[in-house]
Amino acid sequence: MDHLTKIKENKFFGLINELKEKHKADDEIQFVLREMEKELRAKKYGLVWEEYEEPFDIIRRDHIPVFTEDVSEGINAGENAPYHFILKGDNLHSLYLLEKTHKGKIDVIYIDPPYNTGHEDFVYNDNYISEEDAYRHSKWLSFMEKRLVIAQRLLTDDGVIFISIDDNEQANLKLLCDSIFGEENFITQFCWEKTQHFGRQKINFYSNCEYVLCYAKNLCNTKNNKLKELLVEKIKTKLDDAPLYNAINKENVFRFRKGIVRFHIKDGTYVQTTNPSYELIKPVIVRKGRNASDLVLKFRSRWSQQTIDEEAGKGTYFVVKSEGFAVRAVYHKGKAAKESPKQLIFTNAKNPLCAYSRFGTKVGVNEEGRRELEKIVGKSKFSYPKPVSLVKYLISLYYDYNNRIHKNDITVLDFFAGSGTAGQAVLELNREDGGKRRFILCTNNEGNICDDVTCPRIRTVITGIRADGSRYSDGIRSNLKVYHTDFVSADSHSLHDELHRHIREMMQLEHSISSGGSKCMDEQDWLQRLNGYYK
Ligand SMILES: C[S@@+](CC[C@H](N)C(=O)[O-])C[C@H]1O[C@@H](n2cnc3c(N)ncnc32)[C@H](O)[C@@H]1O
Repeated sequence: MDHLTKIKENKFFGLINELKEKHKADDEIQFVLREMEKELRAKKYGLVWEEYEEPFDIIRRDHIPVFTEDVSEGINAGENAPYHFILKGDNLHSLYLLEKTHKGKIDVIYIDPPYNTGHEDFVYNDNYISEEDAYRHSKWLSFMEKRLVIAQRLLTDDGVIFISIDDNEQANLKLLCDSIFGEENFITQFCWEKTQHFGRQKINFYSNCEYVLCYAKNLCNTKNNKLKELLVEKIKTKLDDAPLYNAINKENVFRFRKGIVRFHIKDGTYVQTTNPSYELIKPVIVRKGRNASDLVLKFRSRWSQQTIDEEAGKGTYFVVKSEGFAVRAVYHKGKAAKESPKQLIFTNAKNPLCAYSRFGTKVGVNEEGRRELEKIVGKSKFSYPKPVSLVKYLISLYYDYNNRIHKNDITVLDFFAGSGTAGQAVLELNREDGGKRRFILCTNNEGNICDDVTCPRIRTVITGIRADGSRYSDGIRSNLKVYHTDFVSADSHSLHDELHRHIREMMQLEHSISSGGSKCMDEQDWLQRLNGYYK
């Protein structure tokens, strides 16, 4: 098979070499030819898009990005309660500074970026991107790439990122993420059943799902070269009986010692089964609901004879419920089995496969997101917040495979926080299990969302009191810091002093403590860090 691109490339390389020979003495031509060679050698698979400069890139040329604290928006609950942050402003600015304080420190990122529907959901350089904009995918990719590249650096070595998306940019996002996180770190693409409300919504199909792409920072454990187990839905210690049958294994003969099988069929002697997948090798006597002789069965088992014997020795017993002899195992006390999340996240409680978090909360649909938000901030201008239960479910999957636990003191970042659903999810998870998870939410103030929705919402969930003074709940004790993005002119005469005024924010963010609360917050330390943060 001819590699046509290579043939074309070789033809061009030939021409370039000829020109190089011909114009040996001309430095300018040599330079141009070298650049052309570089272009020709560039990778040939993946996405292509145009890069754009954003307002943040332009201002940064002669300004230094900083944060300024909005002290009146904060909540002080004391040093032993977790610290959470809302960073108001362009998330590129916030991510740029987070790289100074949180590189390699974020355990879980959840984001729900603008989907670029062409219907006023994606603002780029202060303009809504419409369906007619010929560069709409390019602009979205340029915008997302800048942010995701930093996000990747913020994750811990065992960290994961979840990204909500729909059909508009799913394919582009997948390729973009493959190039940023590495194809080898792709965990899966979840499909979340977002509604069960069937009106005539679209021509040709009804859209009832959205996707959640999930990548790890480093999916492969370099110590043992195995895949890390980073998402576990539940750890079951009390188990329902589970089938021993596994269709992909080879058929074999297995022996179950006298007395270890419990029967839900009549006492008697059985010589054959009614299920062709199980063959009785010799007759078995069932007396008082137990096997009075060894049960010898031929079938495809997921356990070896050795595992069957070992498990039986630890107290696992086996059950046969019908004359088909489909043998099942009931694990001994203390044996834990992990359940993985399913790729399809069903939300209809009538569906036996409906998704529930390990705290027993059913994953909800889009409409619930809006209702939840309305309960806190009233009828809001913000449409389509995600349901808290979806974000809780995703965050609660995160598993510490080294210590075999669901860690509950993780740091969670959402840099397209919108109404702050991820913040509420973190707070509620802390309430469920007494955890000390921390969140960092970044949102701009588009349509006054941060001032009118995100901050009041988070303050209400923490204090239990709505902005109008009415009671919402008992509250969830936590500290809150609210910052807005700011700049200091790089050629200010008193640059050092100006930056010094913003160092407290960076220190608090890095250490998640309030000023004066720790010995590392003394003046000397601040000064030493000044250059590190703002260089
Ligand atoms: C799809 S919404 C996220 C909704 C959120 N998951 C929720 O449940 O409320 C995307 C949000 O990102 C915000 N956003 C868009 N571009 C941004 C930027 N450059 N910096 C910060 N926030 C941005 C928008 O204001 C919008 O609220």
